[in-house]
Order: sequence, then C-alpha cells, then structure tokens
Amino acid sequence: MDVMLTGPFAGEIELSAAAFNGKLSARMQVNLGIIGGGTVGGGVYDALQRNGALFNSRLGATIQVRRVAVRDLKKKRGSTIPKALLTTDWREVVFDPEVHLIAELIGGTTTAREIILAALKLGKPVVTANKALLSAHGEELFAAAQKYGTNLYYEASVCGGIPIIKALREGFVGNRINALYGIVNGTCNYILTRMKLEGADFGAVLADAQKLGYAETPPDLDIDGHDAAHKTGILASLAHGFWINPKQVHVEGIRHISALDIKFAGELGYTIKLLGTVKKLDDSCRVQVSVYPTLVPNSHVLASVNGVFNAVFVRGDIVGDALFYGRGAGKDATASSVLSDLGDAVLDLKTGTKNRLPAFVPHECDGAVAPISEVVSQYFVRLNVTDKPGVLAMIATIFGASNIGISSVIQPEGHAGASVPLIFMLHNATNGTAANALKQIAKLPAVKGQPVMIRVENFE
Ligand SMILES: NC(=O)c1ccc[n+]([C@@H]2O[C@H](COP(=O)([O-])OP(=O)(O)OC[C@H]3O[C@@H](n4cnc5c(N)ncnc54)[C@H](OP(=O)(O)O)[C@@H]3O)[C@@H](O)[C@H]2O)c1
Repeated sequence: MDVMLTGPFAGEIELSAAAFNGKLSARMQVNLGIIGGGTVGGGVYDALQRNGALFNSRLGATIQVRRVAVRDLKKKRGSTIPKALLTTDWREVVFDPEVHLIAELIGGTTTAREIILAALKLGKPVVTANKALLSAHGEELFAAAQKYGTNLYYEASVCGGIPIIKALREGFVGNRINALYGIVNGTCNYILTRMKLEGADFGAVLADAQKLGYAETPPDLDIDGHDAAHKTGILASLAHGFWINPKQVHVEGIRHISALDIKFAGELGYTIKLLGTVKKLDDSCRVQVSVYPTLVPNSHVLASVNGVFNAVFVRGDIVGDALFYGRGAGKDATASSVLSDLGDAVLDLKTGTKNRLPAFVPHECDGAVAPISEVVSQYFVRLNVTDKPGVLAMIATIFGASNIGISSVIQPEGHAGASVPLIFMLHNATNGTAANALKQIAKLPAVKGQPVMIRVENFE
C-alpha cells in the first residue's frame, strides 16, 4: 500500500511502513533545534528524554533534538543536555538544513525576534514561550508565519503548564467568551497569599520571596503587573479576535496593597488577588482588558488559588463557566506546554496541514479596548480620616453628588490616634467617576494621605 506524504518535508522524511492489525503506521523523524538551554530549554530536553517514547508513539513520529544554542558553553546546567549538542551560535541551529523545527526559549524581544523571523523565513515552524515578545511583536510574527507558509505556536507563553491557549483556540472555538479572569502571575499570587496568611506587609514578603527565588531582582516586571498584562493581552486577543497591544492594557500592580487592606477585605468576606480581567462590555465589540488587584469573594473558586499557582476562569456563552488551574511557571510545567506545541507542529509537518490552526485568526469584528475610565466596577475604598463628627457625612456627600451608591461603611474599632481608617464598599460606577470622586475626597482636610481604591469583582 502506498502512503502519500505531502508537506515541506515529504522528500526528507524517512518512511517506514509496517502492517499492524491491518493498519499502516508511517513514521517520520523531525529534528528539533532548541535555542536556549536554561530553565525552559533544559526542561524541554529533559522531558523529551523522560517521555520521548510515549510522545513519539502518540504522534507516530520521532522527534530528535539536534542542536541546542546557549550563551555560555562553560555554564553548569541543571539539565541533562549533552555538551556535544551545545553551540553558542543560534544561526548554526536555525540555518542547519537538517533542523526542521525550532523552539525559541531564550526570552527577550530583540535576538528572539530575529531568531523567530529567520526560522519562519526558512519555512520552519517555531515554538516559543516568549510572552513579552508576542505581546510586543505578535502581529509581525504571525504575519511572517503566514507569509512564509509555516506556523508559530505559543502555548507556554501564558500560564506555564495550563493549556489555556489550546482551550481558547480549540476547546472553545464555538463560544463567544463573555468574560475571562486570570490569576496569571505566580510571584504576585505567592506574595498576596503570604500577606493574607501571615498578616505581613508587602515589603517584608517581597524580600523573603526574592531570597527564596519566588521573585526576581528587580521584581518590577512581576509586581507592577506587566508580566500579567502581557499574558492577559494574549488571552484577550484570542478570545476577541483582534490583537491587543500591551499599551492598551490598563495595568496596576500590587506594591500599594497593605496588610491593612488585606485584613479589612478579609473581614468583608473577600481575598485580594491580582486579576487579569477580559470582559465584553456591550454588543459593540468593546472589551475591558485590564490587570489590577481585585477583591474576590471568598466563596468564588479564584479566592482559593494560593501560592505560585495560576488559574483562569472562562465564561463562554455556550459552555458556561470553566476553570483552569495549575502551575504557571517552572521547568517541568512549562516544558509540558512546549511539548504540546511540539506535538502540534510535528503533526502539522507530518500531515502537511500547516494552516490547520494559524498562529492567530482575526475573527468576528473589529473590536476595541475600552478606556478604563469608561469601565464600570464596584469598589473597596480605604481612607485615613481625622476622628471627629461630620467627616463621614462630608465624604458621603461627595459620593452622592457623583451618583455613586454606598453599599456599606465600616469604621473599625480599636484604632486610637489622630486618624482612623474608614472603609467604604461602593456600588457600580465608571472608573472615571470613581477616580474623580476620590480626587475630591483626598482634598478634604479631614482625609490624611492618599485614599486606597481597590476594585471588587462579584463575577455577575
Ligand atoms: N522560567 C519559567 O518558568 C517560564 C515560564 C513560562 C515562560 N517562560 C519563558 O521562557 C523563555 C525562557 O525562559 P527561561 O526561564 O528558560 O530563561 P533562562 O533560564 O534565563 O534561560 C535562557 C536561555 O537562553 C540562553 N540564551 C540567552 N541569550 C542567548 C543567545 N543570544 N543565544 C543563545 N542562547 C541564549 C541562555 O544561555 P546560558 O544558559 O548559557 O545563559 C539560557 O540557556 C522566556 O521567554 C520566558 O518568558 C519561562
């Protein structure tokens, strides 16, 4: 029986056909070039050593690591990559005609972009875990993949081992995604979890997290919300069919969250999480895409996602609510997602169906990211006020004049001193209106320091 192979490697692959139970198995060998032999690159190599036979038998193909590019040949590595595979010149890997498939695992937005573009230009499919690069140059890279008739795969770029990209692209292909909420940065979730459990302040927990290797030095990319914004932007783009530039994502980090906010939120039945929020605002394709600390009701499943774990809660118009939970980073979890992409790439090479699932498919309509000032939220507001009669009335008057309803007020007892905390829970108002009201409130002589405003999400 003849087997017809199509696709760019049809001429190169070794075909061994064997009759088994009346079926024919066609095997091909795909040579992989890995650029980057650090946490993720080393993890991918080790995972292929561990589960390569299983992986190959599921794919009906053999994947073979041919070269691995690194920066420093002398570096001690926490993986089993043989020295003989290493090179310091990524071009030796990408331009090797025997390398069919490239995994870009170095990070950054300069050399990584050059590597991916060079590989795509050669018609070689690329797997990447690089959310910063996709976020900044996604459209250019997707266009290049299309132009050169190949593909770019990026499951590992969002939430480490959680297959959320595949879920949005394939599992939920028949759904409109009305809302998506993600705890997508493990460092922030680790810090907020410890602050809650220990009643500790942000600075102390961050310093300890850095000592333990759970936070980078400097930590800005994580704790100021930018990493979460890259990931949220990618998820929002897939959910809504137009590519979202990171500059369009409203970002607030967790630096200003105090032990006091966590304590009062807890007394009100909430947990503070850094949430990526993607919410369809109306029927006009306008979408909220933001990252900010959020009060999550303790009864909601996202409130119990602790430590470095990630979770994404998706609300589709047909599927309803779905939750994805798992490790958002780390050698093995991330390698699992890279292997998923390698599997897709191998199958696409094997079957010659490279356009089965293009890297990004614009769909539905030309959407737009709504400015945060027009987004409607509920709020937790903590003020520090002079402890004297009439202050509460003055503040309530400003909220009233702004048409912002107050759902509850708490003046906790046991705070002696010149100023005391005063907490408001506010009903729905646009972010513009709430910010304006708080500006006026901050100017009152009885209000000391800057008001703290944290949005509340009730997942309605
Ligand atoms: N770590 C995670 O848990 C995780 C999770 C999801 C996504 N990611 C993404 O995965 C990517 C890699 O992250 P990582 O944590 O594995 O980083 P990493 O541990 O710092 O490893 C980077 C690797 O790239 C190599 N490299 C850097 N510049 C190079 C160049 N110009 N030519 C050749 N090799 C070069 C380094 O070589 P040397 O070893 O010689 O220095 C190192 O092996 C990033 O895009 C990151 O955002 C990481």
